[in-house]
Amino acid sequence: MVRTREGRCQVAGPQSSDAERLAGAPTAMEQRGWRADLRGVVRILSLLLLVFLPPGPVHGLRNVSQKTFTIDYNRNCFLKDGRPFRYISGSIHYFRVPRFYWKDRLLKMKMAGLNAIQIYVPWNFHEPQPGQYQFSEDHDVERFIQLAHELELLVILRPGPYICAEWEMGGLPAWLLEKESMVLRSSDLDYLAAVDKWLGVILPKMKPLLYQNGGPIITVQVENEYGSYFSCDFDYLRFLQKRFRYHLGNDVVLFTTDGSNEKLVQCGTLQGLYATVDFGPGANITGAFLIQRKYEPRGPLVNSEFYTGWLDHWGQPHSTVKTEAVASSLQDILAHGANVNLYMFIGGTNFAYWNGANMPYQAQPTSYDYDAPLSEAGDLTEKYFAVRDVIRKFEKIPEGPIPPSTPKFAYGKVALKKLKTVEESLNILCPKGPIKSLYPLTFIQVKQYFGFVLYRTTLPEDCSSPTPLFSPFGGVHDRAYISVDGVPQGILDRSNVISLNITGRAGATLDLLVENMGRVNYGHFINDYKGLISNLTLNSNILTDWMMFPLDTENAVYHLGGWHANDNDRRCSGKKACARSSSNYTVPAFYVGNFSIPSGIPDLPQDTFIQFPGWTKGQVWINGFNLGRYWPARGPQMTLFVPQHILVTSGPNTIVVLELERAPCGDSPLEPCAVEFVDKPVFSAAVTYNPLFQDLPDPDS
Ligand SMILES: *[C@@H]1O[C@H](CO)[C@@H](O)[C@H](O)[C@H]1NC(C)=O
Ligand SMILES: *[C@@H]1O[C@H](CO)[C@@H](O)[C@H](O)[C@H]1NC(C)=O
Ligand SMILES: *[C@@H]1O[C@H](CO)[C@@H](O)[C@H](O)[C@H]1NC(C)=O
Ligand SMILES: *[C@@H]1O[C@H](CO)[C@@H](O)[C@H](O)[C@H]1NC(C)=O
Ligand SMILES: *[C@@H]1O[C@H](CO)[C@@H](O)[C@H](O)[C@H]1NC(C)=O
Repeated sequence: MVRTREGRCQVAGPQSSDAERLAGAPTAMEQRGWRADLRGVVRILSLLLLVFLPPGPVHGLRNVSQKTFTIDYNRNCFLKDGRPFRYISGSIHYFRVPRFYWKDRLLKMKMAGLNAIQIYVPWNFHEPQPGQYQFSEDHDVERFIQLAHELELLVILRPGPYICAEWEMGGLPAWLLEKESMVLRSSDLDYLAAVDKWLGVILPKMKPLLYQNGGPIITVQVENEYGSYFSCDFDYLRFLQKRFRYHLGNDVVLFTTDGSNEKLVQCGTLQGLYATVDFGPGANITGAFLIQRKYEPRGPLVNSEFYTGWLDHWGQPHSTVKTEAVASSLQDILAHGANVNLYMFIGGTNFAYWNGANMPYQAQPTSYDYDAPLSEAGDLTEKYFAVRDVIRKFEKIPEGPIPPSTPKFAYGKVALKKLKTVEESLNILCPKGPIKSLYPLTFIQVKQYFGFVLYRTTLPEDCSSPTPLFSPFGGVHDRAYISVDGVPQGILDRSNVISLNITGRAGATLDLLVENMGRVNYGHFINDYKGLISNLTLNSNILTDWMMFPLDTENAVYHLGGWHANDNDRRCSGKKACARSSSNYTVPAFYVGNFSIPSGIPDLPQDTFIQFPGWTKGQVWINGFNLGRYWPARGPQMTLFVPQHILVTSGPNTIVVLELERAPCGDSPLEPCAVEFVDKPVFSAAVTYNPLFQDLPDPDS
């Protein structure tokens, strides 16, 4: 077993050939065709000068008291201000945690004994439309990094441009898809131009926050697990390297991360970018680090993503990873003297429409709990204390109280009532009116990136007997809720349901409300177009003359009050067309209710969880805040996290639910048309994730 002396980062006392190789024997150098990078040598030389020169102002040289963060290739470790340093870091995504809770979560991370945090920067979160940047409120990444700095946490920055992260399109903005032939994550010129512009915005914001400039950022990752992508385009990596250096300077440590598998690291590394690996509990740690050693014969051992848990998909059991497995692997990694980042330390929430998906198409749910040491709601778990107990064997843990888990409150049942169907609300959802086209257009073509587009045409023939509506190429991305003259017919679904029988008279209105359930975030298929991406046929004839209504749900929910006043578009009011059909579906509609925070109970409002008894699938807002998707009919997520800062005590809190498939709000008074606030999250089922399988490459290749 390889052990280290406390407080030193190099691997001590090689006792086996594996240990020697981990300790950095030069034999593996040839395998990479290593050439000395002249600039690197100059950097190391000047660093040596810095270290060995006496303190005091030296003309022409930087002051010795200047902050530095570098790699020591002799002692196989990082050097912070010239002294050996090892980071024990945890991942937190500011974009998955409300700003209101940033400090609480960071403090809990610090109190666990972490000395660093690792963050991604999702490009699409900050540039939702080309050239329109968002950096305020929950988007204020600089403030988040400064907050970490104030708490004396260092920051490992992963600004992409691609991040994966189980985030919509892996962080790439959907508007990149406007150029249809674009090869993302390659040296496609249009892609590079967009990347270049974005890097010119984000990296200059990061530069003053670099460690050597007085900030907390010690290292910066270039791309993300690039070796897992098919294109293996070194020109692209070289381009990124140049632009990162141009904006951030030559002093910052740039690195790459890849799965600890030689095939994966091969296309992900580049000379001048420090190669690191990622692996979860249960992996062969010696073997995994030997992969890193093939590419970095000397320097610190780094696991950039040590998996504390795992992600979920709708329709699959909730993933968990055993605390003991996490603790014992972490112990071994630290005993190797390695640097480690726990991915995730807190997962958080995919609010609104931000979740990603994997192929074959499976969307990730709203919760990104990840079974991490801090829960989605920031609660301390058994895993948190187990991880802390391991860390304290190696490093000094800060003294003082750990911030407690936030209290949760069960506000109880809230009755909802049906407000309007989506069809009835088109004047508010789509005030500019529809876009017309002979054949259907995609979301990108109508410049709608998230949420929903209503596709409308008329039935060209009589369908009084069931007639097949067919999507021959599986072109419904991702799910369509179908009605004829306001009568629900059923759904078409990208991966499962490509044909549906409908009924209606000739000339009747055929509506398909098409939902983008999250763009693919990993692998070959990240060019993930949404909407009707191929023609639909009715009775084998291609349907034509479409109207596309891009829906602005956020604006509509915000202007909820106006809905009552604006009542002139009631195509089916009172008629039997509005009634529930014999099927299991109700037409997509908005339901509304409100609740007040009880008075007389101290410390309210508190966090809570909303659950959907009898509801099927949809989207929910509270006071205009888009909490995300619910789908209890699928699971495993049964409740949505409701952070207290979106609740008000001054008046009633408004809940708006957009139910897409079937609401429990029939004419029968027996049906409980209500949601319920409970004080615990509920997952429908859990499986213990077997971490031995999680390093395997994605089967989509
Ligand atoms: C772990 O990997 C090392 C290096 O590849 C190998 O020598 C060792 O046998 C492996 N251990 C186990 C338990 O598989
Ligand atoms: C549609 O209806 C036809 C005729 O009634 C039937 O044969 C077919 O199985 C139905 N298809 C589906 C997808 O329900
Ligand atoms: C729909 O079919 C027409 C006629 O065959 C074709 O020109 C068009 O490209 C198709 N559209 C899509 C989105 O597949
Ligand atoms: C409605 O759903 C239930 C349960 O999912 C199923 O048993 C039933 O057959 C469905 N009815 C119709 C008309 O589709
Ligand atoms: C809140 O709900 C109650 C009961 O449904 C209703 O009477 C009231 O008008 C609602 N208030 C607001 C502000 O929506």
